[in-house]
Amino acid sequence: MSSIDVIQARVLLDPGDTVVTEDPQYLGAREVFRSLGAELQPVPVDDEGMLTPGVPARLAYVTPSHQFPTGAVLSLRRRLALLAWADSHDAYVIEDDYDSEFRYDGAPLRAIHGLQVSDRVVYLGTFSKVLFPSIRLGYVIVPHALLPAYPGAKWLSDRHSATLEQRALAAFFEGGHFERTVRMSRTRYGERRDALLRGLAQVPGRPFEVSGAATGLHALARVPGLFRGDLERLIGLAADRGVGVYPAEPYYLNPAEAPAALLFGFATIAPDAIREGLALLHEAYRRL
Ligand SMILES: Cc1ncc(COP(=O)(O)O)c(C=O)c1O
Repeated sequence: MSSIDVIQARVLLDPGDTVVTEDPQYLGAREVFRSLGAELQPVPVDDEGMLTPGVPARLAYVTPSHQFPTGAVLSLRRRLALLAWADSHDAYVIEDDYDSEFRYDGAPLRAIHGLQVSDRVVYLGTFSKVLFPSIRLGYVIVPHALLPAYPGAKWLSDRHSATLEQRALAAFFEGGHFERTVRMSRTRYGERRDALLRGLAQVPGRPFEVSGAATGLHALARVPGLFRGDLERLIGLAADRGVGVYPAEPYYLNPAEAPAALLFGFATIAPDAIREGLALLHEAYRRL
């Protein structure tokens, strides 16, 4: 099972239903909702995560522990307000907790699932980030009222997740390897994150404004003073030097409203390579 997939949407939505989504948002979720004929109702994100929706909807999809892609953490008051919104509109909330195993600074907030009084939160997790994406396994905690619908939707979607991988994963847990892997990965990814943050802080001139680096495997860096055309030029100049950097723009429902920002995934790049790449990016930035 993948974390935000057709199963959730099939159980929770009919064509034409409205889904509240964060804007910017995770493309995987957006495309699943669209494929089922849902109407997307984008809600902006600030430093406290997604604003509280102002419209009725059947469902809200959120990434509260590390908003994708801004990295904002949904504040406690917004978590409670989202639950109150869901209660008042008889809506469900999908809480996609896709990468919070990797927390480098501060303490996590309680999951929305743990704060609810009524039973309307679908809590999703995935092994894609904590282990590797091709394992294609995840997990879901389902409200009681929806429980009977899930096995049928899973069967329609892909019959069942691969048994061999599930057994291997169970053995991995039983042997204590999972916790060890998470600990080791957290240290390794923390070093990579630190290299990224240090390198970004050394950008000449106006420093990049980094958000969302306390958790997970990516950070967003706003490039102050740049317009969209400048950002495209920066990306081109970096590419000329063999460095791939990617804009946040595709994640915005209306790309014209996207800030000039770059998304940095650091999990698969060693600290030395991060430093080297950022030095080349700085050089490109100086040429603008
Ligand atoms: C916000 C978000 N949710 C979930 C996932 C993982 O999805 P899956 O479990 O289908 O690999 C990702 C992967 O990039 C993601 O960014």
